[in-house]
Amino acid sequence: MTKHPIVVLLSGYGSNLQAIIKKSKHSNIVAVISDDVNAFGLERASRADIFNCSVRQHRDDTREQYCLRLSRIVSNLHPKLVVLAGFMKVLTPNFFEPFHEKQIVNIHPSLLPKHKGGGPSHNTHQIVLDEKDEEHGITIHYVVPEVDSGPILWQSQFFIQPEDTAETLETKVHKLEHQWYPWVIDQILKENM
Ligand code: GRF
Repeated sequence: MTKHPIVVLLSGYGSNLQAIIKKSKHSNIVAVISDDVNAFGLERASRADIFNCSVRQHRDDTREQYCLRLSRIVSNLHPKLVVLAGFMKVLTPNFFEPFHEKQIVNIHPSLLPKHKGGGPSHNTHQIVLDEKDEEHGITIHYVVPEVDSGPILWQSQFFIQPEDTAETLETKVHKLEHQWYPWVIDQILKENM
């Protein structure tokens, strides 16, 4: 089975990384990089014997300077695909320069274009309930400089039940993410998407 190099960027728990490690048949994860040294995703990478490191934004770095540094590090690893899996920093346009337009993917916990954006404290699932949405789900998309706006590759959804809470929605969304992100990554690596 042909495997292609990918780099995963994350900031936290890393359950999507775990799903990629377990289920993706065509990826060779050459590095997992986090902006947060304490991200549990780095520990998951270590346990799977995958090279990992943190690349932090220094106190006197602008976000542009940070993204340029990160971009150079990632592009020097020559990934076929850069996979954002819960990476919380918004990438500035200079990050994208070494990559072509179908080389970076992201997973987002809503049915884009609904509920774009959001930082670590942004509870998309509660907003979905507050706005009385009938459906909720996931979006996997190519990444462009405008946040959560790149071409959509895949969406998967479910109907919200009266008994759902933000916690049950999060569980359902994670289940879909772990099912579909490794599959979509494999399709891209096989150039079937
Ligand atoms: C996922 O819900 C993903 O959609 C969002 O960040 C979360 C990351 O979760 N971009 P994990 O760190 O993979 O568990």
